[in-house]
Amino acid sequence: MHIQDTNTVTASIQSPSRHIVIFDTTLRDGEQSPGASMNLAEKMEIAEALVAMGVDVIEAGFPIASPGDFEAVREIARSVKGSTICGLARCRDADIDRAWEALKHAQRARIHVFLATSPIHREHKLKMSQDEVVEHAVACVKRARNYCPDIEYSPEDATRTEPDFLCRVVEATIAAGATTVNIPDTVGYATPSHMGEIIRTLRNRVPNIDKAVISIHCHNDLGMAVANSLTAVEAGAGQVECTINGLGERAGNCSLEEVVMALRTRNDYYHAGTRVQTQRLVPTSRLVSNITGIQVQRNKAIVGQNAFAHEAGIHQDGMLKHHTTYEIMRPVDVGFAISDLVLGKHSGRAALADRAKAMGYTLTREQVDTLFEQFKVLADKKKEIYDADIGALIEQQIHAISEKWTLESYKVTCGTGQVPEVELRLHRGGESSTVTMHCGDGPIDAIFLAIEKATGFTVVCKDFSVHSVTVGKDAQGEVLVQVEHDGQVYRGRAVSTDSVEASARAFLNAINRIAAVSAVV
Ligand code: KIV
Ligand code: ZN
Repeated sequence: MHIQDTNTVTASIQSPSRHIVIFDTTLRDGEQSPGASMNLAEKMEIAEALVAMGVDVIEAGFPIASPGDFEAVREIARSVKGSTICGLARCRDADIDRAWEALKHAQRARIHVFLATSPIHREHKLKMSQDEVVEHAVACVKRARNYCPDIEYSPEDATRTEPDFLCRVVEATIAAGATTVNIPDTVGYATPSHMGEIIRTLRNRVPNIDKAVISIHCHNDLGMAVANSLTAVEAGAGQVECTINGLGERAGNCSLEEVVMALRTRNDYYHAGTRVQTQRLVPTSRLVSNITGIQVQRNKAIVGQNAFAHEAGIHQDGMLKHHTTYEIMRPVDVGFAISDLVLGKHSGRAALADRAKAMGYTLTREQVDTLFEQFKVLADKKKEIYDADIGALIEQQIHAISEKWTLESYKVTCGTGQVPEVELRLHRGGESSTVTMHCGDGPIDAIFLAIEKATGFTVVCKDFSVHSVTVGKDAQGEVLVQVEHDGQVYRGRAVSTDSVEASARAFLNAINRIAAVSAVV
């Protein structure tokens, strides 16, 4: 590796010799994470962010799974331009027809059909012989190919499939018209050398393999999804399927940001690159985390809050002497701002707008005005305003919904062994109303009960978390809640330097989402 004193640390980054197609499945496999379901507007926002980041293929959903999935794929296909839009289908006529119905208006469409091939799936799930699996897979690829020229076939549970049979299915489906053959490690069973062997076997033994792109789709059950994907690339795979923040079923999928940065940072080794604008990685990661309510662990590679933090004295000393001593990537390359400590009470609107832009947000004039007002209020409470503070305010604004109720004020009196007393004042349609209650296990429980009474919505609180957005005693607390109402899960989010107030606002945010849906129904 050639270390250089530039913003990028590898010399050969600019000259990747092989293009690796990045296939993002955050909206399909990622959405299968418990609690990660997204509404149409949220999916559209993520799809737009993926296009802006330079993702080649976006798997937008599984159209036959539900009317909501169908609508999301159709709307993304209609309006999101710049990436291929893909829809998933089982090997069934109705699935393929439905997928095409959703995709047909896309600038570039892909149908992705899958049928399991492993002996375990054949025997217990499909009850099909090897011959029947081949016959079905071929028929479905042909049906899909009648609709569109870009067809991906996945032999589900490929890594637990007999190598001879895997070669046979792959050869037959390429002959039937598959343009990409994806090798899913559905249960996260493979190891890197095992995965390399599978890809090499396909390349050596399938006579028509050069007629299709070999793709890789790894789950992270043993924590090896990224390593397995990279070994597959090394062995000749030309497409990697991945998700933002590694979201996905169980332990998740291969993380997009990790695989992209590994290819970029170790271009000297892989001689392969992607189209991804790496400075968009952190903003896109934050967007997905804010929308799904699934937080990124602090020490997560590439996008975690601590990914570039150097604590050890010896490391800090080295960094001061030369950043390359302990840094293989620059924070700016993945979208972290150059300096973290930014603004204060006396900073102006232009400085704030500049900062927001550098953080990757494109805001309208009105949004900057609102942000500036909130910034001034925050600067009165908090001396130093960090990027994360600004990001939290912006996210709050971007994801604001039209709120039926807003919090005017609250007062709680509580103490050890005492039932809290709460006075809550809400604003709705130009009027204020007050609820007073003597209830709950503590101040937050009391406020939640008072909000339920004031709004008339009863919910089950499924999850509640509070974490500090930045460091210091005056840091803003970010509260995320998940509540269930009529079998549906709704999320709420709010930030404030007062974490009890943030809790009240987050809970009210979730109730307002329920009210918005109830008004439509
Ligand atoms: O993990 C898997 O096998 C899948 C397929 C549908 C590609 O997600
Ligand atoms: Zn999967």
